[in-house]
Amino acid sequence: MGKTKLQTAIQFTKNLFTTGAFTETSRGVELEICTKLPQGPNKVVVEFGMGHGNITKEILRKISPDSKVYSFEVNPEFCEYVKNEIKDKRLVVVNDSAENMSKHIEGMVDAFISSIPFTFIPKEVGDEIIRLSFESTNPGGYFSQVLYSGFHFKRFEKVYDECHMKVLRNIPLEFIYHCKKH
Ligand SMILES: C[S@@+](CC[C@H](N)C(=O)[O-])C[C@H]1O[C@@H](n2cnc3c(N)ncnc32)[C@H](O)[C@@H]1O
Repeated sequence: MGKTKLQTAIQFTKNLFTTGAFTETSRGVELEICTKLPQGPNKVVVEFGMGHGNITKEILRKISPDSKVYSFEVNPEFCEYVKNEIKDKRLVVVNDSAENMSKHIEGMVDAFISSIPFTFIPKEVGDEIIRLSFESTNPGGYFSQVLYSGFHFKRFEKVYDECHMKVLRNIPLEFIYHCKKH
């Protein structure tokens, strides 16, 4: 049975230093962060920070039947939960950290969707995640990131060719960075 928002909030709070949040992102984030997903057949999408899979479900709703999603999550309990909750052949749950993406994915990626907490991740590790993602993004592809501030936007602007930020006026404010590779 699916977890309630409250059950998810308890789990996130217990693991605050890795989740970086007390609750799941809002429905507005689930929709906005998926606006740059590629259309068409055989696309590869990578998600960082799957949590209990709220954004994952939206990605699966948006992509074609023969596309794939690799969802990275460091917390093994969250991985087990999503494996039981979302039965979809297009989803590959990876219980590993985003910086190890190359161990699990061969070839290029059409889009990255990320909700990992850059504020709690050491700067050099975060910068490496941004760099590795850029290198494996197909031209025209996006890295879309949600955070609770605009503070890290410049780090993405340094690497990606074109970036813009959308602010959702919820409590707390939610910032979505859409970063494109030309
Ligand atoms: C803010 S929560 C977001 C969860 C969910 N996607 C949402 O939108 O509410 C961040 C998630 O990223 C995971 N996480 C943190 N650091 C990570 C890393 N380096 N690689 C993969 N997942 C990570 C946490 O365990 C947590 O589930």
